[in-house]
Amino acid sequence: MGRNPLVMIIDEDPIFRQELQGMLTPARLAVVADCGYGVEAATLAEELKPDLILASVEDPVARAVQTIDAVRGILPNSPVIAYSSTSEMSVIRQIMHAGARDILVHPFKVGELLSAIEMAMRTVDTEAPRQAQSAGTILTVFGAKGGIGKTTIATNVATAIARDTDSSVCIIDLDTRFGDVAIMLDIEPQVTVAEMAAQVRSLDRQSFKSSLIEHSTGVYVLPSPKHPNDWRQVEAADIKELAQFASRIFDYVLLDTPGAFNDIVGAALEVATQVLVVTSVDMASIKDTSFILDVLESEGFPDDRLFLTVNHPNGANTIRAADIERVLRKKVFWEIPHDSQMTMATQVGSPVVVARPRSRAAANLTGLAAKITGRDATVARKTSSPGLLRRLIPVGQKA
Ligand SMILES: Nc1ncnc2c1ncn2[C@@H]1O[C@H](COP(=O)(O)OP(=O)(O)O)[C@@H](O)[C@H]1O
Ligand SMILES: [Mg+2]
Repeated sequence: MGRNPLVMIIDEDPIFRQELQGMLTPARLAVVADCGYGVEAATLAEELKPDLILASVEDPVARAVQTIDAVRGILPNSPVIAYSSTSEMSVIRQIMHAGARDILVHPFKVGELLSAIEMAMRTVDTEAPRQAQSAGTILTVFGAKGGIGKTTIATNVATAIARDTDSSVCIIDLDTRFGDVAIMLDIEPQVTVAEMAAQVRSLDRQSFKSSLIEHSTGVYVLPSPKHPNDWRQVEAADIKELAQFASRIFDYVLLDTPGAFNDIVGAALEVATQVLVVTSVDMASIKDTSFILDVLESEGFPDDRLFLTVNHPNGANTIRAADIERVLRKKVFWEIPHDSQMTMATQVGSPVVVARPRSRAAANLTGLAAKITGRDATVARKTSSPGLLRRLIPVGQKA
């Protein structure tokens, strides 16, 4: 190999990551990356191409195993040495199937670790790399008008995914008129989209993540600028870059948008792996939705990335989903009932899935989040591959 191997450590525990680094440095092994499970590990593997990966396998085991599998897919020539505090046979088998070269029982001695590394590096093979996806899902919440529930849906879906899965979630407020995400989550904006977009080309992971506000539910938030004028200097190309950058760190990136078409919204649609097209059920909203669907179609936007989401922000309306489907010539992907608890939650600055978990609205939006992550199917939870895409887009078709 000619040089000392570059090592990547995948472990959810930052303190142990440091401890491990301390064991490797005297042996002249350079640690080029350390991170937890999920899409960030895959991204780092792809970018930094370590020669060797040390991966802890602790609960949730499925997520650890999926991470090893993803990293192996990206770097088939770099051996993975797993370590786990369990010696349970079923776990060991899963680790082996994911492609680990060796397994150490944690805690282990420095000598054991170094000899495992030496063995693993001796048997490095020369298989060609497989293609693998390492970016998370970008879910854009879009609609023709304001007041139809876009921000409510975006904040609740983000929160439900963070609460109900091990996935990491980030929400970016791209509403160029009324950025309501911060107010709906009751947080005080610090760094906003405007500053992050301006420096997107020189951003590193750590400074990006530390500029976001972590909501109590675990969702990371990048709020919109306080004043609509601050959007003037924001370039659509930088927004695309920013969303893609975020998707290499977070499993799910949600983009909230204004009820309008502009170049920022265009960017949010272009980078999306899925778009929730939100419509309310009054005639004006349906007409406007029909218009935006036509525009998107005429611009060649892939129809299979658009998921029609019918919301009932006003109680009075009784137009049926079947009629909406007929008018819009599109299947309804999800329907959200009217629930006064939703407005109540909005007023207290908390998503309804948290503030009123037993309400009809909360059950419905939790279901929507589950459908998006693919957890409503019998398949186990996901990490970096988009569940909704997997289930909804025909096999072989690329998102
Ligand atoms: N299904 C619903 N039932 C009751 N109120 C709702 C529902 N969906 C949204 N709302 C309320 O409608 C208002 C507007 O929602 P919002 O998410 O801000 O819309 P948008 O982002 O499209 O402008 C909020 O007060 C919200 O609580
Ligand atoms: Mg909004």
